[in-house]
Amino acid sequence: MAAAQEERFTRIKNTADFPIHAIRYCLDFAGLKLHDLDAIVFYDKPILKFERLLETYYAFAPKGILSFLSSMPLWLNEKLFLKNMLLKQLKNIGKFDRKKLQLQFTEHHLSHAASTFYTSPYESAAILTIDGVGEWSTASIGVGKGNTIDIVKEMYYPHSVGLLYSAFTYFLGFKVNSGEYKLMGLAPFGNSNDEQTKEFEQIIRTQLIDMKADGSIWLNQAYFSYSTSLKMLDESKWERLFGLAKRKEESAIEQAHCNLALAIQQVTEDIILHMAMEAKRLTGLDNLCMAGGVALNCVANGKLLKSGLFKNIYIQAAAGDAGGAIGAALASSRLFFNETVVFSDEEDHMQGAYLGPEYADKEIQNMSDSCQAVHKKKENLQPLLDEIAQHLAEGKIIGWFQGRMEFGPRSLGNRSIIAYAGAPGMQEKINARIKYREGFRPFAPAVLKEDINTYFEMASDSPYMLMVAPLREKYRKVLPANYDSLNIWDKLKVPRSEFQAITHVDFSARVQGVNANTNPRFYALIESLKKKCGHGMLVNTSFNVRSEPVVCSPEDAYRCFMSTEMDYLVMNNYIFDKAEQNKDQYIRLPERKIERQTGSTRPEKSVFTLSIAFVMLYLIYQSQWLFNTALILGIAVVLSPLVCRWIDKIWMQISHVLSLVMPKIILGIVFYFVLFPLSILSNLFSKKDPLMLKNKYPSTFRDRHSRFNQESFEKMW
Ligand SMILES: [Fe+2]
Repeated sequence: MAAAQEERFTRIKNTADFPIHAIRYCLDFAGLKLHDLDAIVFYDKPILKFERLLETYYAFAPKGILSFLSSMPLWLNEKLFLKNMLLKQLKNIGKFDRKKLQLQFTEHHLSHAASTFYTSPYESAAILTIDGVGEWSTASIGVGKGNTIDIVKEMYYPHSVGLLYSAFTYFLGFKVNSGEYKLMGLAPFGNSNDEQTKEFEQIIRTQLIDMKADGSIWLNQAYFSYSTSLKMLDESKWERLFGLAKRKEESAIEQAHCNLALAIQQVTEDIILHMAMEAKRLTGLDNLCMAGGVALNCVANGKLLKSGLFKNIYIQAAAGDAGGAIGAALASSRLFFNETVVFSDEEDHMQGAYLGPEYADKEIQNMSDSCQAVHKKKENLQPLLDEIAQHLAEGKIIGWFQGRMEFGPRSLGNRSIIAYAGAPGMQEKINARIKYREGFRPFAPAVLKEDINTYFEMASDSPYMLMVAPLREKYRKVLPANYDSLNIWDKLKVPRSEFQAITHVDFSARVQGVNANTNPRFYALIESLKKKCGHGMLVNTSFNVRSEPVVCSPEDAYRCFMSTEMDYLVMNNYIFDKAEQNKDQYIRLPERKIERQTGSTRPEKSVFTLSIAFVMLYLIYQSQWLFNTALILGIAVVLSPLVCRWIDKIWMQISHVLSLVMPKIILGIVFYFVLFPLSILSNLFSKKDPLMLKNKYPSTFRDRHSRFNQESFEKMW
């Protein structure tokens, strides 16, 4: 299996570009060409998404004009013609037989469900997917048995746990769609006994949402604006509601911000727990599979596991939309092509999430030569591990680049920055010297799988760093009496545990249990560290700096190593010591391949040829009109660049203005003269409420009960 995100190759975080490099990598890994493929599967249904957009504008008109004008051109020009765009882009990769290669589309939440159930070790399981929004669905409860997936219930837009969480992410000054985990990291600094926290939670539960008995939620759209504008929420309303100004990015974090983060985190955990209870009630099964962006909330996952509601919980390592690609492919393989794969229960079907490219010694050597880097190479593994364990014990920070790159948001020991978790001051050191990020964010520990229970109050495995568990009492330090009343930065300084860098202020940690089968090299390193220090516990953080994607190639790794204060870089058996490197060395950025249009024709060239022809005819026949014609053509050739440029310039300006204004004028007419009147009539005479905007329903879950047949894969709706 091969999977990688495009951002890792182009080095542009969250790029929305067509994944040409990722596709090329997957094909190369499998030794296949495009024409060998049976199907290419897209992870959602664009026409259904378009329908949801139109229904939303229809329901909220006349609000939403700006959002309508900004989103519609993209839909009308590109997204509705996704099939054509995909085929056009695929032609840049290689040849294929259009009659043989099928283009398929899976529903967004089926992609999430398939990504988690088909890679889980279970023969049958309840499936819970929760995210911002797919086409209509924002959460689903399903059941997987053998090869089949049955989606039983779905919650629809605009009621969404993911969007609710993102709204708070925005209000607390972090970026939507990427800062959610910062909000989660801020929550433990909140004081649960504080009256303000209780009040915040009460406001959320009574004003913003209505949580139903089955965990479905109704969101009060009076406070949210993601349906009708380019913003998540109405800032002034929220400021009045919470008595707190919206936090600006990079501004100081106050206790009130932490308390609000804690309040929404607690509400989110409660919603997830209730949804899981409903999944249990509907399926009666002991296993739960989870995916969707909200399943990356490892604090909520840890609490769900602790609740004992399900015996086993499996979460897709790439639970966000990146993992939808794996789900779409697996859904087609199982439900369309009816392929059955027999796995043993012991096997990790995600292969530890090590699904990306790996690099041979030769490529590392070439990179080192071209950068004139200084390295030494160990021939055998154990001496290398012993040396690195010694550096770790001395408090050094190491870039660890081995084997295949991880798929999903977490670095799991192949593209990681590592340090000894027991080294003093390590959290501040890595945040300030390497990651250049907010100091409040804790790091995750990597321990041997067999040691999880020794260090943490968690009986199960956590291979993908998606579970949070409390550190065991014996490793904790006694806190000062005034601990709860300290501000965020003072709290951080209080010694909490023997492993300060990985212990959050509430003694929790986001655990990774390293498996000897899926990552023997990383496992062996932790074993060596354990022999050296008595504790096999590493700080494991992603190999990147703030706002850059995780490194992919040796060149990326060396550049990151040189631009930060890492002490050593280890790639395969090569060791690079920072003290020995030439710091002024220029590191080349990987070049991006940009497809260019072929050059335009030059009409003046033909006119010039014609003019020469007339001159030659004049020399033969001596007719004055031939000379005059040649002269006129010659003047035209000389003047044409000037005239053309002038005409071109005017035309470009006119067409630019037209291209900006005309579609908007037409769309504006459509919005105000079609959508708006229809919306008024509908509100007056129809009792339908497709978006469930009125809070009169006992649940916002809708029954679905759909099994997916072959036909459904061929439709874009
Ligand atoms: Fe999603």
